[in-house]
Amino acid sequence: MELELDKIQLELLDEIINGLSQKQKMLPSKLFYDEKGSKLFDLICELDEYYPTRTESMIMKNNIDDIVSVFKENTIFIEFGSGSSMKTRLLLDNLNNLSAYIPIDISEDHLFKTTERLIEEYPGLEIIPISADYTKPYILPEIHKKVKHKITYFPGSTIGNFKNDEAKAFLKLIAETCGREGGLLIGIDLHKDKDIIEAAYNDKENVTAEFNLNLLERLNREYGADFEISKFSHLAFYNEDEKRIEMHLISEVEQTVTINERKFYFKKSETILTEYSHKYTFSGFAELAEDYFEISKIWIDKNKYFSVLYLSVK
Ligand code: AVI
Repeated sequence: MELELDKIQLELLDEIINGLSQKQKMLPSKLFYDEKGSKLFDLICELDEYYPTRTESMIMKNNIDDIVSVFKENTIFIEFGSGSSMKTRLLLDNLNNLSAYIPIDISEDHLFKTTERLIEEYPGLEIIPISADYTKPYILPEIHKKVKHKITYFPGSTIGNFKNDEAKAFLKLIAETCGREGGLLIGIDLHKDKDIIEAAYNDKENVTAEFNLNLLERLNREYGADFEISKFSHLAFYNEDEKRIEMHLISEVEQTVTINERKFYFKKSETILTEYSHKYTFSGFAELAEDYFEISKIWIDKNKYFSVLYLSVK
């Protein structure tokens, strides 16, 4: 089958082929978020078992006055992600003298749609969307108002989806962007009872399973692969030693799959690793960030499931 792929898709195809050629087959988790995957992720956030989203929102609501107190005058507020969430609005509603708000997101469509709405809702605020991969260096635009401080917001414990060395590189990039007197407001999911964590990634309605399997559907749709979806199943377990959820797709039978004329052989029960989701202790996270940041403030829920932190650039 002749494929017509754009530059970004060709780069992704390289990553896909490379990932499936490893001993532990793997696929990049950024592939989850096509239109269907993004909708499924929104459904995940509403599930009874998926505690992170509602717990983080509750922490933000309960502590909003203290949280906004870290924003001094003349601050620009940079958000990784599209800024459509209730948490962003809560912050923007309570921050009256920001110099500018800069949402950065790889999905241009979603970013511009969200920004249009925010511009209407916050008429006095300079909002400058940047469409970019926020894990790579980018240049901040000129701001009309005076800028003395830069604060980056990275909610949702999305940092947990990075491998630890990637997370470190990412924290370095944020520290360099925000500079001295700058900071990072971040949500992190905490290490806890294994059963609670595993239930969050193995929901009864199988939404997470559908989210995981959508990766293969996407490879079929966009890259002409021939995965038989019914011959793979969702697998998610908590690796206590590494303190992370590992999400896999497990091959139910021995089979061969073709993508772009490349054949990949699967033994029965062989898996494709699709996502890590790290859970942190405070000391573990402090250690991860220690080269660039120190923890200045900690907000937490009563069950100690999740935490919002303010880290100051060292
Ligand atoms: C986006 N990220 C923080 C989610 C998580 O919990 O790691 C992605 C997710 N994967 C399965 N369920 C949710």
